[in-house]
Amino acid sequence: MTMAPEKITLLENKRILLGVTGSIAAYKTVDLASKLNQAGALVDVIMTEAAQQFVTPLAFQSVTGRAVYTDLWQPASAGNGLPTHIAHVGLGEGADLLVIAPATAHTLAKLAQGLADNLLTVTALAARCPLMIAPAMDGGMYMHPATQANLQTLQGRGVLLVEPEEGRFASGLVGKGRLPETPTLIGHVRRALGGTGRLAGRRVVVTAGGTAEALDPVRYITNRSSGKQGYALAQAALDAGATVTLITSAQHLPAPTGAHIVPVDSARSLRDAVLHAVQGADVLLMAAAVADFRPAQVAEQKIKKQDNDTGITLELTRNPDILLDVKAQRTTDGWPRVVVGFAAESENLLANARDKLQRKGLDLMVANDISAADAGFSVDTNRVTVLDVQGGQQPLELMSKTRVSELIIERVAALLTDQTETS
Ligand code: CTP
Repeated sequence: MTMAPEKITLLENKRILLGVTGSIAAYKTVDLASKLNQAGALVDVIMTEAAQQFVTPLAFQSVTGRAVYTDLWQPASAGNGLPTHIAHVGLGEGADLLVIAPATAHTLAKLAQGLADNLLTVTALAARCPLMIAPAMDGGMYMHPATQANLQTLQGRGVLLVEPEEGRFASGLVGKGRLPETPTLIGHVRRALGGTGRLAGRRVVVTAGGTAEALDPVRYITNRSSGKQGYALAQAALDAGATVTLITSAQHLPAPTGAHIVPVDSARSLRDAVLHAVQGADVLLMAAAVADFRPAQVAEQKIKKQDNDTGITLELTRNPDILLDVKAQRTTDGWPRVVVGFAAESENLLANARDKLQRKGLDLMVANDISAADAGFSVDTNRVTVLDVQGGQQPLELMSKTRVSELIIERVAALLTDQTETS
């Protein structure tokens, strides 16, 4: 048996109206509706007549567990807990977001003109919540000046646009106009809903993954960090409305939608990226596992063994301590406002972590006992204790890296608020 998918705090009990129009990409939004529902959102689907040529209302009803709306004159279902006025008023009331995915060229044109000839376009006019559109159509139609002008008009009114992707269409032609996959669409929904969170207007820098120190063109020394905790922190910061720079060596993980990704490999490339990114940033979350040593020499050619070699000795040299460099830079320019370190220890967890907190000039230290099988590297769960400069320690029970990240973001937001109030 596999575990039920984790609810997404930001999406839980949010009312999302999903408008589906007549494109073959409509089949993909059945998955979107399903994943939003699994994440805890209440999804009310409105389908145009053309959308029903591609997918049936029953498909959406099956995955959302809620009535699907197709008719302008149909009352909103009392079973959905909505007011039972005629549907377009009831549906729009109290909705957190209206997402139209896929949005055809025709629907975009109607929205740009303010036309209201079916339940979806009437709802789009009546609803007071933000509107997000994800166009999907043939490349020629997307690039047509009429479609582009309509998109500009809509964006000028504050409508959020999810750009279609380049790729192959059902027709076999290649171009820009494909609906992005569900995780990307959900990332955009999270961005839209998180925009007013506790870190709105804040700049957050996150580092993730283990560094790789080259020995020769084919080999390197690295560590067991998976990058999962760092990626979860970046997503939690995005959900709280922050602008996020994710400096990462774990580029195999899916990039959180909206994060600015800076790829790195060695400790020194990580240091350069960090010292640059933290200028003017509010927060640094230093989750990367940095190698303290690197090979003293990097061989230009692949190191070859000799027949009589029984072993070789590697000479290692010290890497910079990035947090100490950040501390020095911070004393001169004041950025970043809040610095959080992560200490993975196999013994004397709290004493070692507190010592690093003080030595590296941190505001918070997240201490994590890597000797436990269910915490630390590669797994999706973690058991950490958060230490602060006042001597406080907050032990957290075993929880997902996502929940750990949300709690760390809460602590960081509180520190930033305290600073703003006392300055
Ligand atoms: N760190 C850093 N630069 C390094 C090593 C670590 O900035 N050269 C950061 C890590 O990203 C982490 C924190 O310091 O946020 C603690 O990392 P850890 O590896 O536990 O500490 P070290 O200073 O390497 O201490 P030790 O090797 O004694 O455990």
